[in-house]
Amino acid sequence: MTPRIITVTLNPAVDVTYRVGELHLGGTTRVADVRSRAGGKGVNVAAVVRALGGESLVLALTTTRTPDEFRDGLAELGLPHRLVPALPAVRRTVAVVAPADGTTMLQENGFPAGETAEAGIFAALRAELPAGAVVISGSVPEGLGADVPAKLARLCARHGVPVIADVSGPALREAAGSGAVLMPNEDELADLGGAGAGPDLVAAGAPAVVATLGAEGAIAVTAQGTWRARPAEVVTGNPAGAGDAGAAALAMHLTASEVDWPVALADVVATSAAAVLRPVAGEIDVAARNRWIREVKVERIR
Ligand SMILES: Nc1ncnc2c1ncn2[C@@H]1O[C@H](COP(=O)(O)OP(=O)(O)OP(=O)(O)O)[C@@H](O)[C@H]1O
Ligand SMILES: [Mg+2]
Repeated sequence: MTPRIITVTLNPAVDVTYRVGELHLGGTTRVADVRSRAGGKGVNVAAVVRALGGESLVLALTTTRTPDEFRDGLAELGLPHRLVPALPAVRRTVAVVAPADGTTMLQENGFPAGETAEAGIFAALRAELPAGAVVISGSVPEGLGADVPAKLARLCARHGVPVIADVSGPALREAAGSGAVLMPNEDELADLGGAGAGPDLVAAGAPAVVATLGAEGAIAVTAQGTWRARPAEVVTGNPAGAGDAGAAALAMHLTASEVDWPVALADVVATSAAAVLRPVAGEIDVAARNRWIREVKVERIR
């Protein structure tokens, strides 16, 4: 068993799915089928770690009020968690699935975190370290500084714990010098300065930059070399959460004393494609992942 992986979610969500016959924009749509589930990128990562046979802990902010649908949702998923109540409410994302219209997503930004949020999340992480690896994922709610993921990453680095920062915007730029492995997608990589950003960040001390390029696969830039991997198959399905699945796979490899980068990158690409096969973020088709991990082509480019 690999050592436990902690995921950090500063902007949790309750993901609601409405299945409808037809969506009437500007009118009334009756909803016959409603499902809700604990969401947020770190929750997806923790669920995929478990699907890969690992042990995970969800560390997240949550609401100060009861009932707490997010907490109940984690219990329902059976995911171990340690929560810091510091939000007035947990945001919702609403997916309206209509056969003829596809999926319409409505995403709330999240409620502002209270004054105790930052100290609370640091105390919770300190209490749970050490770990095999830590994954810090998703957006930062209002009320917390964009430097909080970077500061959390530095805390992990001081404990000698490998850490992945899968964050965006100003939080990603802050995390660039924190000792975290960065996992930008194409847009986030452009934000860091484009294709040349990976080598520059590694030269400046980042342990690795794993850039994910949607259906084109992923590139790992490390001090040991640079590799590119393409999916064994381009999959049609639900790409939301594919990056989270890739982060879960990478975290499992980072728990080793020495990372075998081409093997880790093949796993990132196989596991994230296996997430596209599933309609729900946080799930993977394990059989497809086990098959693809042997078929993914990894090429050394530097
Ligand atoms: N259609 C696809 N077929 C096969 N693999 C895919 C496909 N789309 C994405 N992937 C895999 O998923 C990985 C992550 O995808 P992407 O770069 O879109 O991440 P992302 O934007 O961070 O996703 P999210 O944040 O929603 O989890 C890619 O590196 C690739 O390996
Ligand atoms: Mg992503």
